[in-house]
Amino acid sequence: MTFEPLEKEYWENPYPYYQRLHEQPSLPWAPRAQVFCASRFEEASEVFKDPELFSSAVAFDLLLQSSWQNVGVVDVFEMLRFLVRARVNPLALRSAPETLLTSDPPKHEAMRNIVNRGFSPRRVAAWEPRIRELSQQYVAKLKYANQFDVVEGLTHPLPMSIIAEMLGVETHRLADFRRWSNSAISSLTGCERSLSPRVIMKNGGEALEYLRSIVRRRQQEPGEDLISVLVDPKHGDTLDTQSVLMFAMVLLIAGNETTTSAIGNTVKLLLERPQVLEEVSADPSLIPALVEESLRFESPFQFMPRRATRDTELRETPIPRGSTVLAMIGAANRDPRYFPEPDRFDIHRDTTGHLAFGYGVHFCLGSHLARLEARVALEELIPALAGCSVADGGAVYGDSYITRGLARLEVTRSTPMAVGRPQPAEGADRAPSQSA
Ligand code: HEM
Repeated sequence: MTFEPLEKEYWENPYPYYQRLHEQPSLPWAPRAQVFCASRFEEASEVFKDPELFSSAVAFDLLLQSSWQNVGVVDVFEMLRFLVRARVNPLALRSAPETLLTSDPPKHEAMRNIVNRGFSPRRVAAWEPRIRELSQQYVAKLKYANQFDVVEGLTHPLPMSIIAEMLGVETHRLADFRRWSNSAISSLTGCERSLSPRVIMKNGGEALEYLRSIVRRRQQEPGEDLISVLVDPKHGDTLDTQSVLMFAMVLLIAGNETTTSAIGNTVKLLLERPQVLEEVSADPSLIPALVEESLRFESPFQFMPRRATRDTELRETPIPRGSTVLAMIGAANRDPRYFPEPDRFDIHRDTTGHLAFGYGVHFCLGSHLARLEARVALEELIPALAGCSVADGGAVYGDSYITRGLARLEVTRSTPMAVGRPQPAEGADRAPSQSA
């Protein structure tokens, strides 16, 4: 059996493939993508936990290579404009720019230390009132509608607003952030290549130009936000302006896409399982367990690439130096050796150790924030889901082979909500500062 991790047909429903990958005697090899798939829980964990042997530094070239394949002569003008706007050295275009995600220790540790504090459990907890206020506003608009898109109405705007406020970028430009973020995901990881290279370069150039203007402003007049933390001159040895820009881009995209997917996937799982919906409605203290099981069952990141820095071996299969190995998060979280009956959705199971946020030095920086956003959004949304179901053809996955999340989740309500219309929450313009 072959599994081609960069091709759409395998992503419609990857789970039956995963079980077959686990059973193969040797480490699965994808001939067209030219990658090894570390599908078992133990193997994926081994890949994550040894950054010296499995490097992140060049592994993302896999994504960049496939995204530049379609650039043609007609795109030259837009490419030149992109280079000017982004101030990118064309000679560096074919290799991945250094970001937190694509660096190895010790550089990685130095970069991570700069922002770690802003994402500590205490700092993140200070955002709960704001997350609740926004969730209430968004849910108030959906509550009495007979048909609504949960992604458009809640799961996308909530994480995007919060990360935009944390970064200190203008929240009225959410539509632009969404366009830029979707374009980056689709260009780097889309199976269908639904956007033309010209549109992708236009969006990328605009995003970098915008972030550059914010960076310049914070350099002149620092505030309490994360970009001000990044541009602090004391980090000058670790981050130049280009790295600050890439850092801000990673935060803007990582903070948005994955959490949107996590909440959207959970809502779909609930609507398809009315008994579970009833159970968590009756006992909201089960929501954190629901979120963890959803992260295991439908992991928003399905894999992370690494490159072997020397000859090694996994599942008694030789892996030559320079090979790309995918730590298959989505598959590992369905490995029966670690999670009994892995294809059963069970909010009462022990999900300890699931790999949805990765493992080791690159373990998700935003995990506390993502868990908080998911819990609060669901606490607010679940009471409004009574009598709702997924509309026919209403669940549409985004075009990406690396993230598994809904681009659209259209919901219909069969029983109208009983009580009168609530007023949207007041005073939605205050956010806690980074130094709170
Ligand atoms: C449910 C939502 C989320 C999921 C499933 C998720 C998943 C992941 C995973 C699997 C990694 C590891 C990458 C690797 O090993 O190469 C990661 C890293 C990262 N995540 Fe998340 N993430 C989520 C939400 C967030 C949020 C809200 C932020 C906030 C800004 C964020 C920021 C980051 C950053 C900056 C890294 C890189 C960390 C490093 O390389 O040291 N993520 N995430």
